Amino acid sequence: MSSLDQLKIYMNEMWTDYIKMNPAAEKIYNLFAQSGEDLTNDHIALRTFKHPDLGIQSLAQHFTKYGYEDRGEYFFIEKKLYAKHFEHPDKNVPKIFISELELEKMSPYVQETIAQCIHQIKPEAVKNEKFVFSGTHWIPNHATYLKLAQESEYASWVYAYGFRPNHFTVSINHLKHFTDITRLNDFIKGNGFKLNASGGEIKGTPQELLEQSSTMAAEVQRQFADGVYSIPGCYYEFAKRYPMTNGNLYQGFIAKSADRIFESTNKSS
Ligand code: NI
Repeated sequence: MSSLDQLKIYMNEMWTDYIKMNPAAEKIYNLFAQSGEDLTNDHIALRTFKHPDLGIQSLAQHFTKYGYEDRGEYFFIEKKLYAKHFEHPDKNVPKIFISELELEKMSPYVQETIAQCIHQIKPEAVKNEKFVFSGTHWIPNHATYLKLAQESEYASWVYAYGFRPNHFTVSINHLKHFTDITRLNDFIKGNGFKLNASGGEIKGTPQELLEQSSTMAAEVQRQFADGVYSIPGCYYEFAKRYPMTNGNLYQGFIAKSADRIFESTNKSS
């Protein structure tokens, strides 16, 4: 079997895990399929903590072995996040966007709580490629989840869900009918799904070479040590890329837009 075929199987496993946490994504996928669309992913996003044994590089190793290359870095000062994106030579294979929470900038409470979680991860588990959809390696507690969220919604999300795709992204450039993002958004909303309106439904402009929108993560029933609670899960994103002056489609990300899209997993307050 070729490396590309193996990569596609790997990504299918990630998709299977993702739609378990986000049944809305499968419904939206099916709506597009019924409209005659054949969906291609623009990127898959993963979240982790900055740590020598767990940071971006630990997750990226499972993609670089398939030929992915590091192609860009992004800074999110306020959210205390750092991210990188990776591209595969085959342009029909989704990019991988990996972010990490800069623990050293967090309060002692967040640092200690997350350190206890990280301590429970077996080092060999991180080396297995299935680690990127292995979930939690600790038993989350809902009271701790809420306390983490006061300081960082991102920290609380990874604490509750562990390691798994945070979102998949439909490439609008590959669609036949829904080539306009406003029309696509209307289609999504018309079918009863809520979009992330933080900073407007459409993030980015054609001048910035990337337009994005996303659903708000639907609530998922999660078992915590102290009971079952409903909390935001994963979301689905849509991205339209524009050509650069050389005629090639822009492949990077816009930090200002990504900053807002991170909020798709925020709890409604
Ligand atoms: Ni994204």
